[in-house]
Amino acid sequence: MAGPKISVVFGTRPEAIKLAPVILALRRDPRISCQVCVTAQHREMLDQVLSVFAIRPDTDLNLMRSDQTLAELSAHLLHRLDAVFADSRPDLVLVQGDTTTSFCAALAAFYRHIPIGHVEAGLRTGNLQAPWPEEANRVLTSRLAALHFAPTEANRRNLLAEGIAAANVHVTGNTVVDALLLAVESLQRPAPTPAMAEELELIEQVPDPMVLVTAHRRESFGPGLESICQAVLELARRFPDTHFVYPVHLNPRVGTPVRHLLGDSGLPNVRLLAPLSYLAFVKALHRAYLILTDSGGIQEEAPSLGKPVLILRATTERPEVIKAGCARLVGTDTATICAETSRLLTDPDAYRAMTAAPNPYGDGLAARRIAAICGRMLS
Ligand code: UD1
Ligand code: UDP
Repeated sequence: MAGPKISVVFGTRPEAIKLAPVILALRRDPRISCQVCVTAQHREMLDQVLSVFAIRPDTDLNLMRSDQTLAELSAHLLHRLDAVFADSRPDLVLVQGDTTTSFCAALAAFYRHIPIGHVEAGLRTGNLQAPWPEEANRVLTSRLAALHFAPTEANRRNLLAEGIAAANVHVTGNTVVDALLLAVESLQRPAPTPAMAEELELIEQVPDPMVLVTAHRRESFGPGLESICQAVLELARRFPDTHFVYPVHLNPRVGTPVRHLLGDSGLPNVRLLAPLSYLAFVKALHRAYLILTDSGGIQEEAPSLGKPVLILRATTERPEVIKAGCARLVGTDTATICAETSRLLTDPDAYRAMTAAPNPYGDGLAARRIAAICGRMLS
């Protein structure tokens, strides 16, 4: 195709989920050629998302190595992406969020004088150590990008405060809502494969009430993750009729301690699962009474489904959820997690107060807005 070329580059599960609606929107624009390059910083967890959205990458760099260092990953990413960009010569490179793939793709594009569009721009904690290394990835990507797609007004203000020109910042909402709506729609139809049907059935069969748990942040490796697991154990003992379901991230630095601390507990109401495919995870969010997580994306999805979130971190770049009243920061301290969770499990008023908040992340049209702005910029 002769029109302008956009290369959408991503590598991990959350980037894939949040860029899938953008790819689908760009592919509806006949003026644009949209190429998908996956770095496969994640492998299985990325492939799960690609199959849900039926996205076939044009290029797959297959870069995941077990437990590789950030420096090794970054070096491979820069080297391989440089060759991809030299060969395909896109007119715009789109990246999302704050991963090593996002930042290295932006840097490789910058070195080739290719403009960069940054989806989910302007999130900040103001602390380079939390989340680590994602806060640095965000700040550095913003320095390099030409187009900044900020989910919220607060994100836009963060960018303006760093001297980014207002004309280059567009408040679009977060594409996570677009993806979630697509998933909810898919869940109305029969499962596309027997494996998916089995996963959905597994979630369906967890008795109520269910507490959904996820934790994978690097700054929590070691003591933080251990005290999160201790909290789950203590809560499971205190509330034997409540089911704690934890789909465990494939990072061995997460899986090994979690399986050691929770998998061997023998408690019938603690269930460790492999990472769920996106549709099954959305079903789990829907079924959950309450969510304990340190995930960024899940903090954004839960309010769209009216589910309270206890954030297992000391700080968040998503203050909108705290302000809206649907999430609270509880950190990784065992006693605090237990106290806050117990309160929500036993006090219906406290629980109700956290379920009524409006979704601060938009109307599900963010991807269309982003595609339209990219189209205008390139025409
Ligand atoms: C990355 C992102 C983080 C994001 C998370 C989403 C960085 C620095 N961090 O962290 O911001 O929240 O993804 O999940 O980019 N692994 C597998 N199979 C998979 C995925 C991971 O085996 O499908 C294992 C591999 O051993 C891999 C390790 O997990 O080396 C770590 O993966 P990596 O992408 O480096 O870090 P995450 O902790 O997943
Ligand atoms: N998710 C999933 N399966 C799971 C756990 C999470 O599909 O077992 C989805 C979830 O719905 C959200 C995204 O993965 O959209 C969040 O990814 P993650 O927590 O790994 O990364 P973060 O958002 O913290 O960067």
